[in-house]
Parts: sequence; C-alpha cells; structure tokens
Amino acid sequence: MNKVTTSTVREMKKNGEKIVMLTGYDCPMAKMLNDAGIDIILVGDSLGMVKLGFDSTLPVTLDDILYHCKSVRRGNTRAMHVADMPFMSYEVSVDEAIANAGKLIKLGGAEAVKIEGGTEIVGTVTALVNAKIPVMGHIGLTPQAINTLGGYRVQGKNAMAAQKLVDAAVALETAGIFALVLECVPEALAAEISQRLAIPVIGIGAGVGCDGQVLVTDDMLGLFAEFKPKFVKRYAELRPLILGALKQYTAEVKSKAFPGDENTYK
Ligand code: KIV
Repeated sequence: MNKVTTSTVREMKKNGEKIVMLTGYDCPMAKMLNDAGIDIILVGDSLGMVKLGFDSTLPVTLDDILYHCKSVRRGNTRAMHVADMPFMSYEVSVDEAIANAGKLIKLGGAEAVKIEGGTEIVGTVTALVNAKIPVMGHIGLTPQAINTLGGYRVQGKNAMAAQKLVDAAVALETAGIFALVLECVPEALAAEISQRLAIPVIGIGAGVGCDGQVLVTDDMLGLFAEFKPKFVKRYAELRPLILGALKQYTAEVKSKAFPGDENTYK
C-alpha cells in the first residue's frame, strides 16, 4: 500500500485515474478511510458544522483544526492528509499564514494545507509553497466567504463569473498549488477548468468531468441531517441506525433487560 503524496495525485491525473477524497475528523474514521482506499483525507473546516454544531465554518479556529489533525494523524497511514486553513488564519499577513500552516504540518501531522480563495491569495500561496508547504486551492463556492457571497449558491453561472474562476484557477496553478477543489460550479465549466490545468481538480458539486471527487463524510454517511445539498449522495443512512440503537439501549436499561447474564461478571 503506497503512501499517497503530491506526486501520486499528479500521476493519477496523468493516467486518467480518478482521485477519491473525503473529509475525516478523527482517528477511528481515518482508519476506516484508509481501509476503504480513500486517496486524500481532508480535515475540513466543515467540522465546525458537522462536529461542533456551528451554523457556518466561520467560527472554526486553528486550534480546532489542529486538534482534529492530530487525531486523524494517529489513524492514517496511506492517504494524503490535508488540513483546511480556517477563516482568518491566513488573511491577516503572509507571515501569519506561514506560521499557522507550519503548525498544522509540524504539530498536526498534516502533509498539505487547503486555502479558500482566488487571485487575491496568490501571494500567500507562493509564500507557503516557498516555505515547502504543499497547498491545495479551493475556488467556486467558498463557504468562508458566505457573508460576501450572500448564500450557498452555484458559482460561475454567467460568462464573467466563469472567466473569473478560470483566471483564478490558472493563477493559483502558476503560484504552485498541487491540486484544486472546485465547489458548486456548472459541470461544463468544471470540465473546462479540469482540462485546462495540469494539476488535479477535485470537484464537489462540480460534475463528473473533474479529476476527482470530494464529499463531507458525515453528509454521505447520513450522519449530518440538518440539510442535504443536491450534490450530496447518501451512501448510508447512519443517523436512523444509531438513533434506533440508542433508543433500544434506553428501553433495555429502563426495563432491566440490559445488562443480561452474558454482560455480567459472576
Ligand atoms: O471543509 C470542507 O469539508 C471542505 C470540503 C467540502 C471540500 O472544504
């Protein structure tokens, strides 16, 4: 089982092999993601919504990401481990961005960082790459910009917006990102960007023409039930399954059916 690195994903794109990426937030799930052969585990700031109960990703801190990175690091052996840079951990200054990304690599065990943004973050990306920190870009719907985007909507729908995304993708590739997440854009535009770039483009809500796909694990497992975007496919419905087990346990404790003889020391 070969460790997935930046070179592996580049090769996969060259060979036309799709890249499989999912989010992961802790050690037990990282082990399962490895067992399933997932190529990239993202400790996403989506953890703010699916694990910490916030209604956006904005309150997530560097310490939150760091904590979850450490847990994933202990369970991951094969996948590439990418850590999200949370809101305001890279915008204030390039020096702060390098210091924060460095913590995720040095203390969290991440092997790369992901940053949301277009041409405005090219300088930061260049500085991180020069500091030997691999960077994954993220354009299209960028949830950290929710207050300026005005909602979770499909991006790049008109010619001008589409061109802006193409320009951002090319500029980020030139700045040295090793892969790009493209979120919530029309499939024709995503396919065009994927063909245009030499680096892999990982889509979420961007159609089948991308070089790989990413989903939030809690969404695709049916653990996060608050809402379900169109692009999410539920591969399991774990919430009702877990709820059923919890209710059965409650009933059995109340009725003294648990613990039975088989769970009791004599
Ligand atoms: O935070 C996250 O989970 C993400 C993915 C949806 C790409 O950024």
